Amino acid sequence: MNKPKVFVTRLIPAAGLEQVREYCDADIWTEPLPPPADVLRRKVSDCEGLLSLLTERIDGALLDAAPRLRVVSNYAVGFNNIDIPAATERGIAVGNTPGVLTDATADMAFALLISAGRRIVESEKVRRSRAVEDLGTDGAHRTGHGRPHVGYRRHGPHRLCDGAPVSRGLGHAGLVSRSAGPRAGRARIGSGAVAFDQLLADSDFVSTHADLNDTTRGMFNAAAFAKMKPTAVFVNTARGPLVVEADLAAALIKGTIFAAGLDVTDPEPPLAGNPLVGLRNCIVAPHIASATVSSRNAMAEIAADNLIAGLKGEPLRAWVNPEVATNRRKGGNLGD
Ligand code: DGY
Repeated sequence: MNKPKVFVTRLIPAAGLEQVREYCDADIWTEPLPPPADVLRRKVSDCEGLLSLLTERIDGALLDAAPRLRVVSNYAVGFNNIDIPAATERGIAVGNTPGVLTDATADMAFALLISAGRRIVESEKVRRSRAVEDLGTDGAHRTGHGRPHVGYRRHGPHRLCDGAPVSRGLGHAGLVSRSAGPRAGRARIGSGAVAFDQLLADSDFVSTHADLNDTTRGMFNAAAFAKMKPTAVFVNTARGPLVVEADLAAALIKGTIFAAGLDVTDPEPPLAGNPLVGLRNCIVAPHIASATVSSRNAMAEIAADNLIAGLKGEPLRAWVNPEVATNRRKGGNLGD
């Protein structure tokens, strides 16, 4: 029996890759950097399945260039790199990897929050050249609006705040989460909920966990940073385009805010000349929040399961657009 042809855009852990190799005729991109857009387009043109990362832009044009494609399995919980309506219209199932990187991502947010606030990376660097005792900002044991967060991705509010030796966490809704539907204004979650401007003004730490969509793109801009305390630490483990990077750089240079810890940039990896890279008071990590052995193995397994289920025409284990099944029943694009 001929195996279905798939393109895998990066080496993923054997926990998933072995399954993919067993069931599919897999072309695997082994370079550390993503395949360029023209290469992706060429590679996927005769494939029935695509196992992609967040760095791959998967839009209607790419999908049209792959007429046999039946499933896109994203090796990530987020899927803002994929035009979901375009995939659904074409009868292409899309899968993601929820639930297995939540704790790892919350840990990363917390690590960045403390490291940026206590100037750990900066101090380690200057220790080599001089004795340093630059003071950091306080975090633990505060009362009042201690470690707020913006947004409701799984690794947000309660994971970041509850049980930590801190004050309390605040949440802000008014952000659109695809799974939760549009919410406006205030919402109660974790230990409190306030309006966005108040949250910015009152917070010692602002950690964003928002989905990236038209409502949230660029929400952390010059106006937002201007509302924050000069002692505030800003953390982003969600998506780079939530932030206007030039505005954040200016806020860090002018001292509008104290420091930032970022796991995400726009684009990734950051371009040469990204204004945030190299700033004394900004930690820029290379999107490693999910980079633990157990998270990445579990993500690989789910991504492989999703890919194979999609190729078999079965329900995906984590299915972003299950309405594809209905479209197919109605006689939509069935691949081949
Ligand atoms: C994801 O999988 O969406 C996360 O951003 C990984 O850190």
